[in-house]
Amino acid sequence: MIQKDGLYVVMGLLDADSIAYAIGQEIQQLGGQVVYTVQNERLKRIFFDRSDKLTAEEKAALRMEFCDVTKEVEVRDLFEKLGPICGVVHSIAFANPKTCLGEDIFTNAVDDLKTGFHISCASLATVAHYALPQLKNGGSIVALSFESRKAFPFYNWMGVNKAALEALVRALARQYGHHLIRVNAISAGPLTTKAAKSIPHFAHLARVWRKMSPLPWDTIEDKAEVAHAAAFLLGPLSKKITGQVLYVDGGASVVGGDLLPAERPADEDELSALVEQSGLSLSPE
Ligand SMILES: NC(=O)c1ccc[n+]([C@@H]2O[C@H](COP(=O)([O-])OP(=O)(O)OC[C@H]3O[C@@H](n4cnc5c(N)ncnc54)[C@H](O)[C@@H]3O)[C@@H](O)[C@H]2O)c1
Repeated sequence: MIQKDGLYVVMGLLDADSIAYAIGQEIQQLGGQVVYTVQNERLKRIFFDRSDKLTAEEKAALRMEFCDVTKEVEVRDLFEKLGPICGVVHSIAFANPKTCLGEDIFTNAVDDLKTGFHISCASLATVAHYALPQLKNGGSIVALSFESRKAFPFYNWMGVNKAALEALVRALARQYGHHLIRVNAISAGPLTTKAAKSIPHFAHLARVWRKMSPLPWDTIEDKAEVAHAAAFLLGPLSKKITGQVLYVDGGASVVGGDLLPAERPADEDELSALVEQSGLSLSPE
C-alpha cells in the first residue's frame, strides 16, 4: 500500500490526538517514513510537548518540521528541504470559533472568514504547488474534509470551507493528473481532537452520528479507520482514483433522517455484540 521507505509528509500535527498523528503512525506501520509538520514552535510547546499520551522516547522519535501554511515561503522551504517524497497529507483547518462557528452564521468578521478560508482550503493549492517538484514519480495528496453537502448546526463557515476544499480537490486533480499526481479527500465522521473541541457543541455532532450512522461510530478509536483509508489513497491500490471524496463516516452521509430503532443497536448488549462481531469499538458518550 505504502511505498517501503518512501517519504510521506503529514501536515497538521498538534498532539497525539490529531488525525495527522493517526495517519503518520499508519504510514510508518506499513513501512513508509514520515515527516510531520507542526504550525510553529509555540504550538508544539503548548500542545505536543505537554501531552502525556506519548513517552519522551516516542516524542523524540518523530521527525518534525515547522510550517505555517499561510506563509508561502515556509511551504516552499519545507518541500525544497525535504527532497523527493511519495505523498502529502493535508490535515489542517482553522476557523475562529467566536465568529465563524456557532448558532448564527452571520458575521461581519471578514478577516476571520478570509483566514479560515486561507488555512482550511486555499492552503491545499499552495501545498500542492510546492510539493509538485518533489513528487518526482507522481504521488498522492490527501486532504481531510467533513460532510459538506449537509448543513450541520454550529459548523457554519467551516462547512462552507469544506465544500470549497472538496471543489479544490477536484480542480487540483484535474490540473495535476498529467504529472501522475492524484488528489483526494477523506470525509471523516466526528473525531475527538483539539480542532473538534473548538467547535461549539461538538458533543451534539457526535450524538447526531449515533442516530445517523448505520455502523457504530467511535469518535476516538475510528481515527485508525480514517488512517487506513488515507494509506489506501496514498498508495498504488488507488492508482486511478483522483478528485474524489472518500467517506469514512460509518455511513452517516447516506442516511436521510435518524435511523429507526430497529436499524441501530437497540441496547448496550446488542451494541457490544455488534462491535465485537465487526472488530470495531464504540467509546461511551
Ligand atoms: N476532528 C474531526 O471531527 C474531523 C472530522 C472531519 C475532518 N476533520 C479535519 O481533519 C483535519 C485535522 O484536524 P484534527 O481534527 O486532527 O484537529 P487538530 O487540531 O489536531 O489538527 C488541526 C491542525 O491544523 C493546524 N493548523 C491550523 N492553522 C494552521 C496554519 N496556519 N498552518 C499550519 N497548520 C495549521 C493546527 O496547528 C493543527 O495541527 C482538519 O482539516 C479537520 O477539519 C476533522
